[in-house]
Parts: sequence; structure tokens; C-alpha cells
Amino acid sequence: MAEKKASVWTSISFWRRSAAWVTGFATILLIWLTFDTISQIRMGTDEELAKGIKRRIPAPTVINYKIGYKYDEKRGLEVPVIGPEKNPLFGKELSPKEAKNLLHLGKLTEQAKNCMDCHTLLGNGAYYAPDLTKAWLDPMWAKGGPMQAMTGKNSKEEAMVEFLMHPDKYPTHARMMPNLGITEKEAKGLVAFLKHMSSIDTNGFPRGFSKTIKDYETGGTYAK
Ligand code: HEC
Repeated sequence: MAEKKASVWTSISFWRRSAAWVTGFATILLIWLTFDTISQIRMGTDEELAKGIKRRIPAPTVINYKIGYKYDEKRGLEVPVIGPEKNPLFGKELSPKEAKNLLHLGKLTEQAKNCMDCHTLLGNGAYYAPDLTKAWLDPMWAKGGPMQAMTGKNSKEEAMVEFLMHPDKYPTHARMMPNLGITEKEAKGLVAFLKHMSSIDTNGFPRGFSKTIKDYETGGTYAK
């Protein structure tokens, strides 16, 4: 009499083979995703930026440009708009090397003073204080905004430097940022760091940021 055929679901070799296939497929997928991510998060070069070639993370010399923020109909989210007009930080156009060094100082200061203890940067950090990912584009720092008036400075970057050095002198919320003993040089680095961060295409993170800008323009959030 012929042997009774067991169901495939009870076959050990079937499950062994399936496990091997799934593991193999997942490994290939992960390797592919890793390379795909690396190409997305690689910082662009200064030459690419000068030629107007778009990169998710622009080169350090992006701090020489005007940075805007616009809703992209096709992608359904907000993206930074870089240039083409120049708007050098502190009114002085920096060479690629100078820009890189200033950003490096800003990054080291951000790490040394642990801004992420209170703030969020690119999705990392705490929610005790405002998200800093697009802080550079926050209209409260722009001409006619409260921060330039409060600090008595005539540009966004100078107002930010003054605030970062003496945040305890300019409280705007119920929560106050403590004085972290930041020097003027470090504060300039931090401002460059914040400006560069605002130029990164973060797929619209933080969500609805341009609403802050619109609210401001129509007098919703802040009194002008
Ligand atoms: C102990 C918590 C704490 C730390 C650490 C901290 N901050 Fe703040 N920060 C705050 C709070 C609270 C506010 C809101 C204060 C206000 O508006 O009056 C603030 C406000 C700010 C603002 C203005 C908000 C905006 O949207 O533009 C900036 C810029 C800023 N911080 C940058 C930094 C940087 C850069 C660092 C690191 C060097 C840092 N902060 C470290 C608590 C902190």
C-alpha cells in the first residue's frame, strides 16, 4: 500500500528551506537599503551647491545663501529652497574651508553644551524646549520679529548670537533657557550650525512648520 503523503505544513525540510529563503531575502534587502540610505544622507559638495545641484544635505557653504521654505505640491510636504540669492552669515561670504570649520565648531559646541537635553534636532532629543531643526527659519528671528527688537540687533544672526550668549536676559516662554556660558565664537558656530540644519531636506519634518510662518505673517501666533 502507498505511504500516506503528509501535509507540506508538517514537513521539517519545507520550513528549513523557507527560513533560508526568508533570511537570504531580508539580508539582500537590508544591504540594498543601507546603500540607498547612504546615498541619501551623504553631504553634497561645495561644487554641487555652486552649480545648483540639489542634495538632501547641502555642503557647508550653504550658509552663504538665502534659505527659504516652500510647500512642494508634488511631494505634498515642505522643502527648503536654497538661493539662488546669496545671504552670507554675518555679511561675509565664507570659503568652503572657513564654512566647514565654523560648522564644525558649532557642532562641537552643540554636543559639548548638550542642546539635545532640552531641544530636538532632526528628530533626536527632548521636547522640553522648541524644536531646533528649522529654528533658523522661525519668523520670530526675522526682520520685524520680536527677537531682533528684544535684543536690539539688526540681523537674524546677530540676534541669535546675543540670545545664545544670554538666554536668561530674553525669556519669551514660561520656560527659560539657562545661560550655558557660550562664548561669542561658539555662538557664531551654533548659528551657522542652525542655518545649515534648516537647509536639510527632512521630508517635511517637523510637520506643519510653514504654518508657523503663515500664522506669523497673518498675525496669528505672535503679535507683529
Ligand atoms: C536646559 C534646557 C536647555 C538647553 C540645554 C538648551 N536650551 Fe535652548 N531653549 C530652552 C528653552 C526652555 C527655550 C525657550 C526659551 C524662550 O523662548 O524663552 C530655548 C530656546 C532656544 C532657542 C530659541 C527658540 C527658537 O525656536 O528659535 C534657540 C535658538 C535655542 N534655544 C538654542 C539652543 C542651543 C543651540 C542649545 C545648545 C547650545 C540650547 N538651546 C540648549 C532650553 C534649553
